[in-house]
Amino acid sequence: MGRLKVMAVVGARPNFMKIAPFVRELRRHPLCFDPLLVHTGQHYDETMSASFFPALRIPEPDAHLAVGSGTHAEQVGRTMIAFEQALKTRNPDLVVVAGDVNATCACSVTAAKERVKVAHIEAGLRSFDRSMPEEINRIVTDRLSDILFTPDEIADRNLLNEGIDRAKVKLVGNIMIDTLDTHREAASRLNLGEIVTANRMGGDGLASGASLWDDGYALLTLHRPSNVDDPDILARLIGFFADEVAHELPLVWTVHPRSRRRLEADGLWQRLTGCPGIILLEPVGYIEMLRLNLGARIMFTDSGGLQEECCVLGTPCVTLRNNTERPLTLREYGGTCELAGNDLVRLRKRFLEMRSLPRRPFRPPMWDGRTAERIVASMM
Ligand code: UD1
Repeated sequence: MGRLKVMAVVGARPNFMKIAPFVRELRRHPLCFDPLLVHTGQHYDETMSASFFPALRIPEPDAHLAVGSGTHAEQVGRTMIAFEQALKTRNPDLVVVAGDVNATCACSVTAAKERVKVAHIEAGLRSFDRSMPEEINRIVTDRLSDILFTPDEIADRNLLNEGIDRAKVKLVGNIMIDTLDTHREAASRLNLGEIVTANRMGGDGLASGASLWDDGYALLTLHRPSNVDDPDILARLIGFFADEVAHELPLVWTVHPRSRRRLEADGLWQRLTGCPGIILLEPVGYIEMLRLNLGARIMFTDSGGLQEECCVLGTPCVTLRNNTERPLTLREYGGTCELAGNDLVRLRKRFLEMRSLPRRPFRPPMWDGRTAERIVASMM
């Protein structure tokens, strides 16, 4: 039998840490697999995309579709058109997508229509909230996938409840944790002040990296449309972080380009750059973010991936969402996260009760750094 031609897809930042261990594991078996990597180009800034390739030792993509930003329909549509061409040119036996971004959905639909088998890494997650574009992407991708690699038993149950054939579902664990384990030691050697100096956004009034020490700062990321697209909600959140959190602890905020655009458009950027307790950083690399997470007393985020990393590292995490597709990360399941949405009363309550919690690392079964190994073994 010839080698299996496996086309892995990346598009947006959260894909890179999921695909890196998978591609590395495929390359360890050159007699079995002929790996190809396609980048759809959903994310394209150096800090959102290119910088992750050397840092996570991901090979250069074999094809770059350069689809860029746009409305959902524009982004998905452009990806489908370009990916169809990539499939025709490269003729893979299997397409492997990861996560829940627009690239995941667009490429699984295109492959299914071209009658190419699809495997989905991180299948079965459900927030049961279809107002999130990611939930639509998850449902469509899982429905069309031939192999569904799941991170936990809750994901398995979600798929079975939707009538998906048990034989297609393979519980393999959380592949993001492979990447976390690979880079954790290197991250712990990084210096906090140097990360701040190298990634600082302009503004003279900002607190400096010298004021940061382990366990002595809060960390914030924010990019969901539900938090940043409505000017009133965003203004309320800025008020909370500037007046309440940064008053007590230096607050490090790695600013997503979507949020920066909104902050500037809403006239809030000046307020932030003038706030002495807030340190604004460009989007930082994976290892730098891991270092910031390792030293944070508390995390505020609306990112699902960071929720999982906080859980394994033990960082108390206030999640700025009303639901999650990753329930295992919640404190009621043994994790470190609490949902708070963007309601100020809930946020304040969570901040006050969680800012002095000790670190309590939690690893669900099979979040053991060997997920890529299990995935690739199941394909041999
Ligand atoms: C996307 C994913 C989201 C993921 C997030 C991580 C979907 C539906 N959403 O959201 O699940 O959590 O990535 O970052 O796929 N932009 C830049 N440079 C870039 C990329 C984006 O400036 O390299 C700006 C553009 O203004 C763009 C906006 O950010 O319009 C949003 O980018 P987009 O890829 O549409 O969605 P994200 O909010 O990044």
